[in-house]
Amino acid sequence: MKTTLFSTRAWLRLAALGSLVLLGACERPPMDTVQQGYRGTGMVQVYNPRLHEATVAANQAPVAMPAASADGPKAGQVYQNVKVLGDLSVGEFTRLMVNMTAWVAPEQGCNYCHNPANLADDSLYTKVVARRMVQMTQHINTDWKTHVAETGVTCYTCHRGQPVPKDIWFTADAQPYGSNFMGDKAGQNAPAQSVKLASLPNDPFTPYLLGKEPIRVGATTALPTGKGESIQRTEKTYGLMTHMSASLGVNCTYCHNTRNFGNWEGGPPQRVTAYHGIQMARDLNLAYMEPLASTFPPERKGELGDAPKLNCATCHQGAYKPLFGAPMLKDHPELAAYRPYTAPAAAPAAPTAEAAPAAAAPAPAK
Ligand code: HEC
Ligand code: HEC
Ligand code: HEC
Ligand code: HEC
Repeated sequence: MKTTLFSTRAWLRLAALGSLVLLGACERPPMDTVQQGYRGTGMVQVYNPRLHEATVAANQAPVAMPAASADGPKAGQVYQNVKVLGDLSVGEFTRLMVNMTAWVAPEQGCNYCHNPANLADDSLYTKVVARRMVQMTQHINTDWKTHVAETGVTCYTCHRGQPVPKDIWFTADAQPYGSNFMGDKAGQNAPAQSVKLASLPNDPFTPYLLGKEPIRVGATTALPTGKGESIQRTEKTYGLMTHMSASLGVNCTYCHNTRNFGNWEGGPPQRVTAYHGIQMARDLNLAYMEPLASTFPPERKGELGDAPKLNCATCHQGAYKPLFGAPMLKDHPELAAYRPYTAPAAAPAAPTAEAAPAAAAPAPAK
């Protein structure tokens, strides 16, 4: 027919082109698979070797500087305003300052945190935040071994040479309409990377990594129990799980035996590590990040005025262990324990070399 705009063949060509464009969003084969559970349980990790290469390249730890001598005067004796690192020798302290600069502000240098006219001055907010960050890092490495083990973390785990880590989050405005008249949006239908563009609530962090809502999908009883099981809770749970999978670059089966998602028995041990990871992220956000809201300048805060916060991706950045498990902490023992300076107690009247330590030892608690 003369009146058709395109011939059938042209339509077919167009359709073929269209499907190529659509498939462009998919990953091309071949994929690598690694079996990780019993045969026949579908417990397999699927990797795209080409994307995996990029993730490996992005997760290399920097080479450590040679250790500094622990001898000599302490930073707490020599400097004026050292509150958390005073127990380090001046050499160890200086080595850490150089490393902190390389890990957090390599382009900006010492003055990103310091007033060059007076290094003891606390007038820059970045220095006040950095001091708290040192304490947070020591807390992670000391009190969260259930998650970070001996591998531990340094500033580099999160910062990777940038003042603002790649993955941070703010509480989303769940009801941007202002009223409930238009229904409860619950952060849905607003494609967000936090949940890999799925139609899931786009802020799965506030309920779980700040709040303590139960991470549950199914009611275990036929009738409602009043414990709040609901479609909404299910959607939020899946939002968090999507974030966890994406942050670690793994499938759901890395932590779950899909025979029964809720059941801990027969599931991989990684799920237990992840459980502690959720508790840890919540603790860090509540105890360290949120209280810094009054310290951060307005341009660093979220639309609701809250402080920037961390999630699984802040440390993991696509790897099942941050930096693929590179044990950076072993070269930075100053971040593995709390190191405040306490002036030595005044010497007792006439100490002998052997008697002094015994006299100083506290009476054993009963
Ligand atoms: C990421 C922020 C940051 C960077 C970058 C940084 N510092 Fe510091 N600096 C601090 C913090 C925080 C303290 C206080 C530590 C404490 O309270 O235990 C401090 C304290 C000091 C002090 C002690 C000053 C005093 O008298 O109290 C010196 C000296 C110092 N830094 C030198 C440097 C040098 C040199 C560089 C660059 C190589 C540097 N810093 C880079 C955060 C930083
Ligand atoms: C567990 C992850 C994590 C670790 C470990 C960590 N930080 Fe941070 N840091 C953050 C987050 C999240 C922020 C908020 C980002 C922002 O400022 O918007 C932040 C902010 C900062 C800022 C403020 C930057 C700015 O421009 O606003 C400084 C300075 C800083 N960190 C220094 C350090 C230092 C020094 C260490 C190591 C002693 C460290 N951080 C360890 C997560 C981390
Ligand atoms: C890194 C480990 C990890 C990954 C990956 C992971 N999960 Fe989870 N999942 C957990 C943990 C831990 C819990 C339990 C949290 C709690 O009880 O506090 C959980 C809970 C759940 C629950 C709730 C079970 C119940 O008791 O009602 C469901 C459903 C679930 N996950 C589904 C998924 C799906 C689907 C994926 C893939 C998109 C996934 N998970 C990926 C660790 C993981
Ligand atoms: C402060 C940084 C940090 C944060 C935040 C963090 N992790 Fe981790 N995670 C680590 C480190 C370090 C290890 C490696 C521990 C080791 O070597 O055994 C690890 C290991 C794991 C493992 C074990 C992997 C394996 O194969 O043994 C899982 C699973 C995991 N993290 C899940 C999570 C989840 C889920 C979250 C968010 C709820 C999270 N992590 C948040 C630092 C972090």
